Amino acid sequence: MTFVRERATKPHASGGEAPRPAAPWWSAASIYQIYLRSFADGNGDGTGDLAGCRSHLSYLAELGVDAVWLNPWYLSPLADGGYDVADYRQIDPQFGSLADAEALIADAHALGIRVILDVVPNHCSDQHPWFLEALSVPPGAPERERFYFRPGRGDAGELPPSDWQSQFGGPAWTRTTNVDGTPGDWYLHLFAPEQPDLNWGNPDVRAEFESVLRFWFDRGADGFRIDSAALVAKDPALADLGPGEAAKGPGQHPYLDRDEVHETYRSWRRIADDYPDRRLLIGEVWLEDADRFALYLRDDELHSAFNFDFLCCPFEAQALHRVIDGTLSAHARLSATPTWVLGNHDVVRPVTRYGRARTEFKMSERRIGDPSDIALGTRRARAAALLAFSLPGTVYIYQGEELGLWEVEDLPEDLLQDPLWARSKKTDRGRDGCRVPLPWSGQKPPFGFTGDGASPWLPQPEGWRELTADVQRSEPGSMLELYRSALSLRGRLSSLRARDFAWVPSPEGTLCYRRGGDIVV
Ligand code: GLC
Repeated sequence: MTFVRERATKPHASGGEAPRPAAPWWSAASIYQIYLRSFADGNGDGTGDLAGCRSHLSYLAELGVDAVWLNPWYLSPLADGGYDVADYRQIDPQFGSLADAEALIADAHALGIRVILDVVPNHCSDQHPWFLEALSVPPGAPERERFYFRPGRGDAGELPPSDWQSQFGGPAWTRTTNVDGTPGDWYLHLFAPEQPDLNWGNPDVRAEFESVLRFWFDRGADGFRIDSAALVAKDPALADLGPGEAAKGPGQHPYLDRDEVHETYRSWRRIADDYPDRRLLIGEVWLEDADRFALYLRDDELHSAFNFDFLCCPFEAQALHRVIDGTLSAHARLSATPTWVLGNHDVVRPVTRYGRARTEFKMSERRIGDPSDIALGTRRARAAALLAFSLPGTVYIYQGEELGLWEVEDLPEDLLQDPLWARSKKTDRGRDGCRVPLPWSGQKPPFGFTGDGASPWLPQPEGWRELTADVQRSEPGSMLELYRSALSLRGRLSSLRARDFAWVPSPEGTLCYRRGGDIVV
């Protein structure tokens, strides 16, 4: 794929050398996702942490990213990699302290890098004080109203209250034991049992999250990625889904994409707008219906949402053409910014995905172990990155993408940590393969990720010796250099940052488009 700079003979709407003054900072930003556990380890215990992250910020500045998004860093038993939060205002001691977090934000800002945090509103940890309190009081007590407790069905309450299934497999309900030792009510968890769902109909829950947002905005956070954003509102009847799940009308599903959810994001937007320097709200919204998706991006709601259509799209010109058109036309009616995403901590890495016979991604079918031609996948991942970087909007880069890391598909079973593995009755190896710690330097594991002699929390493949940041740095043609030079071009060429885009006719199997009047890709 090539960028061709044309002579700027034609006037164009948003050309000129500077971005439109009103455009928010994220309108053409590149945002690097840091999965903290696996980024860099500063204290030698094998788990990435804030100290390690701080000492590698200069790498990110060199790479040329505008912001980082950090996966949850809060106090957590890590039953789901930190998406089970026990205290939203404390840093998990494995990662560091609140002072370390503040120092990281300050260091990043000093390098011109903004910091986005991850907020997890749908559920907390079963070790959160609220949940422990709820278990210690009798049914009917107000402390239980922050969650969904319901009596079971069957003669002795031995059956779950509804037919809902957890996203990780198995029932979405777990039975509790009363303080006197007798079997008690059940509680709802759309994910693992260690992640009880919060009841967003309860005023304590709403007030708490508003306060949590302010807590981190006050400490300099530049925005939030909102976890499972379309799941938080539930129909309090919590009725069976039954066989007709798909037949339910828009907003009628008992827990997915309910209309009440928008009230929450409107209130969050008001909070974000209270702060100077424009704080970003980006939603993790997995929805097929483009019109329903767009509702989250209304002017008084989220600024942006991840483009999972692009991420899931097969590596085929026609399909990509369709997704790009769909994205751009949906956003043309909105002031929200389109996003271009190829990977994250939940999906199979692009190099592996694109090297397979079937190159699309489906959450329910990760096909770990399907044969993959890594060399082919790498060439395609390079093209996909340039595609993403040359489209109008924000690009997200998941750590390791810039090194061309592949999915580690042969992790020993006894080391797998993703709850998906156990919950799927060991049929889905889960997401650990894209979460293996980064290779920084050296000839053998742990590749500078942690101290020599220490074991990274997931083992790295020996073959990554070719892919360390050190090896790729200044190596012409390496993935790292490709990312660096493409990001630098994006920073320098205002046409690539503008919003205008037009297809140029091209042979079947190829994509060709004009950006801002003087660039043809
Ligand atoms: C989101 C996160 C994922 C997590 C889930 C439950 O999808 O990206 O990692 O397991 O929410 O919080």
